Amino acid sequence: MSLARSHARKMKPALHVQLNSAPANSASPSPAPLLNSRPLMDYLERNPRDPARENQFSAASGADRNARSMRGIPETPNGSRGPDPLMNYTLRPEDMITVKKLGEGSAGTVSKVKHVPTGFVMARKHVRCDPNPDFQRLLERELKTLDRCHSPWIVTFYGAYMDGDELAICMEYCEGGSMESVYKRVAEKGSSISENVLGKISEAVLNGLVYLHKMHHVIHRDLKPSNIVVTMEGNIKLCDFGVSGDLVNSLAETFVGTSYYMAPERIQGGKYPVQSDVWSLGLTMVEIAQMKNPFPSNLAPFELLHYIVNQPVPSLPEDEPWSAAFRDFLSQCMIKDFMKRPTPEQIMEHRFIVESSIRTPEDVNMRAWIREVWDYADSATEPSIPQAI
Ligand SMILES: Nc1ncnc2c1ncn2[C@@H]1O[C@H](COP(=O)(O)OP(=O)(O)OP(=O)(O)O)[C@@H](O)[C@H]1O
Ligand SMILES: [Mg+2]
Repeated sequence: MSLARSHARKMKPALHVQLNSAPANSASPSPAPLLNSRPLMDYLERNPRDPARENQFSAASGADRNARSMRGIPETPNGSRGPDPLMNYTLRPEDMITVKKLGEGSAGTVSKVKHVPTGFVMARKHVRCDPNPDFQRLLERELKTLDRCHSPWIVTFYGAYMDGDELAICMEYCEGGSMESVYKRVAEKGSSISENVLGKISEAVLNGLVYLHKMHHVIHRDLKPSNIVVTMEGNIKLCDFGVSGDLVNSLAETFVGTSYYMAPERIQGGKYPVQSDVWSLGLTMVEIAQMKNPFPSNLAPFELLHYIVNQPVPSLPEDEPWSAAFRDFLSQCMIKDFMKRPTPEQIMEHRFIVESSIRTPEDVNMRAWIREVWDYADSATEPSIPQAI
């Protein structure tokens, strides 16, 4: 567990109250029901009577396949695309079985689940909820944003439902795991991640950030290796912006959001510009390249914040054979003054990214790469990591 993460857990206030009811002894009126209200749930769940959803998830004809692909409908492990199997279903807790726990973060637990009526496999994140009306308003807004995101670089959102006091967010299951699990695996094997692969990861993350910002005016705010996931097709996607990370953190009164990946301007309590995501990307890429966290491990949380603001930014060791383009990309991402730091769109023009984007799947085969990482044989029908159902 990372220093920041253990700190976050310790400092986090318990969010244990029933949604839709005011806190005990609260003099304030009960918040307007949100998640139990049918209009929102009808909107969030895959209710075919909702014309907006019908448009988004209409059955795929052959000609519609590419459009579906661009909207992020996930691939099956063998790369083919089927019709959206959840189209006619309302997601309900009783229809889900947990296949395995994928991990636990500061906001809740993520599991691989199977939707029994369809056999469809998803990742489900359980988030503890707060009855605070501000939380519920933010939640409604964030869920609507998730629902509107359709991009190959963003994990697809399938719907949300209440399970007791917890919000369950159902999303596309990315069998290749997170970049954190990937680099740990590569390190364990005594191998390393090539610069061409790092270029493809950076390129995908930037595509996701530009999509969020341009199309939805959203800043990720929690970019880090565990929030970048990969499919067994080698597609890199972003998860955990808004709802499942920052939403919960934003309502806690303490340092829950403290993280290795926070930009100096955020630590200093300033505003949160779009360039903060670029700082986090730089740090994330140093970590993935080095296959370890770039900050000294002995720092207490407060010392870490001081270190990020006052010490030289992390960089790749001089004696390692990284290209000048990659080194310069990282130092541009981690310019301390955010006014001088490029936005995601601007850093996409950097030669490291431009050169990466020219490389074809034959040049850099991400599908073969991720399968090699997990020793996943092409002939298998299910990935060996994580386990098959
Ligand atoms: N859609 C997904 N497909 C596959 N694995 C996922 C998916 N979403 C999350 N995970 C994995 O589940 C684990 C737990 O995720 P979670 O977001 O709860 O915590 P985190 O990102 O590790 O940390 P934190 O909560 O501190 O930000 C992570 O390893 C993450 O990569
Ligand atoms: Mg996460």
